[in-house]
Amino acid sequence: MKITYLGHACILVEISGKKLLFDPFISGNELAAHIDINKIEADYILITHGHQDHILDVETIANRTKAKIISNFEIVNYFGNLGIEGHPMNHGGSWTFDFGQVKYVNAIHSSSFPDGSYAGNPGGFVVWNDEQCLYFAGDTALTMDMKLIPMLGPTPDICILPVGDNFTMGIEEALIASDFLECNKIMACHFDTFGYIVIDKNKAKQNFSDKGKELVMVDIGEAFTI
Ligand code: NI
Ligand code: MN
Repeated sequence: MKITYLGHACILVEISGKKLLFDPFISGNELAAHIDINKIEADYILITHGHQDHILDVETIANRTKAKIISNFEIVNYFGNLGIEGHPMNHGGSWTFDFGQVKYVNAIHSSSFPDGSYAGNPGGFVVWNDEQCLYFAGDTALTMDMKLIPMLGPTPDICILPVGDNFTMGIEEALIASDFLECNKIMACHFDTFGYIVIDKNKAKQNFSDKGKELVMVDIGEAFTI
């Protein structure tokens, strides 16, 4: 599995030969000014909730790439009305795609479109194939529901968690989440983009290494393989 960080909560995952783009918010992110959204390839776009900082570039990228949206029912409907194809899900449901399985899981947050209309309940995604499993939490507080993830499916090899605090959990809660998820490799997202979520990155990494865990923090545009 190859994981590329595109800033904020936008991540490109390559699994089973398919490209999964999560929560595209690039053109509105000053820190990602060097990323050209016209060069991003995607087979699927997975959307955790309707907030602007997770959907801003969905329409542009989907129209060019013909990527199919995977999200909750309301978000798939919304983009369906714009002529973009999608696969609707809701909490607790799983589906087998041509790259593997996806389960839509709970997140503690809110979800509305930029115009204030209802965007369903926010969620996260567990994605796995026969070899590897990834959990992409989306914007969320720490929740006991995270314990269900390794109980109900494969234990994640990597979990992508928000760590910026204020709008989501912060670094201390992400450490507890890693215990709940039985996963010692956490990739950080949803930090530094706005003033409210600027964090001390060295301290965050140290907090994890003090507990024998790894906090992966990737420069925007950089990739790694697990
Ligand atoms: Ni949000
Ligand atoms: Mn957000």
